[in-house]
Amino acid sequence: MRIAIDGPASAGKTAVGKLAAERLGYRFFDTGLVYRALAVVAIDNGIDPRDEKQLCAAAEQVEVGGPQAEAGGGSTCRVEIDGKELGSRLHEPTVSDMASRVSALGAVRRSLLELQRRVIETGGVVAAGRDVGTVVAPDADLKFFLTASPEVRAERRYDELSKRGRRVDYRTVLWEIKQRDERDRKRVLSPMVPARDAIVIRTDGIGAAQVADLILVEARVKAHE
Ligand code: DC
Repeated sequence: MRIAIDGPASAGKTAVGKLAAERLGYRFFDTGLVYRALAVVAIDNGIDPRDEKQLCAAAEQVEVGGPQAEAGGGSTCRVEIDGKELGSRLHEPTVSDMASRVSALGAVRRSLLELQRRVIETGGVVAAGRDVGTVVAPDADLKFFLTASPEVRAERRYDELSKRGRRVDYRTVLWEIKQRDERDRKRVLSPMVPARDAIVIRTDGIGAAQVADLILVEARVKAHE
C-alpha cells in the first residue's frame, strides 16, 4: 500500500509516519526533505530563493538513496545531495525557512515531483508531506491529514530544537510556524489542504503512538476491502 500523511509543520507527521511504517514493515519517506536538501544547496551556493532557473538546475543534485535501517526496526528513505548525507543540517531554522520559500515556486515543485513519485510508486511506503495525497500520489491507498493548533506545534518544535542543544525562544518558534503555515497554505501551487478523501486527525493532546494506532486500524480495514 501507499499511505500518504500530509499536514503542517510539527503536526507529528514524521513521528507518526515512522511508527506506522515500522509496524507495517514499510519504508518511511519524508518528502519535505527533498525541499530541505534543495534549500541547503541554495544556501551553500548563494542562490536567490526567487531564481527558478538556478533552483531547478540545483534540484538535479537531490537524490533519494536506499532505505536506511532505524533503531526501532523500521527503515527511512535517505535524502542526499550528490550521494552525500546532510544529517542535522536539514533541520536548521534557516533551512526550514528557505525550504518554505523555494517550495512555493511551480518550476521547483515540478522538478522534484518525479523523484518523489518514483520513491512512492513501488508501494510499501508511508510518505509524509504537504501535497502527497493531493498532487504527488493522488491515487494513494490511504490518506491522512494531521493537524494541531499552532501553539501545540510550536511547543513540540521548541522541545525538539532544545533537545538538539539549540537555544531558542518559544515566541520566535511560534511566529516562524505561523509564517510557514501562511506561506504553505496560500501558495498558488499545491497549497497545503487536506485531500477530499483524507482522514483528518487533530493531534493536540494525542501521542504519536495513538495516532499511529489509528492509521494501523485504517490500514487493516483497507487490506480486507
Ligand atoms: O515538512 P517540512 O517542514 O520538513 O517541509 C519543509 C518545507 O517543504 C515546508 O515549508 C513545505 C515544503 N513541502 C512542500 O511544499 N511539499 C511537501 N510535500 C513537503 C514539504
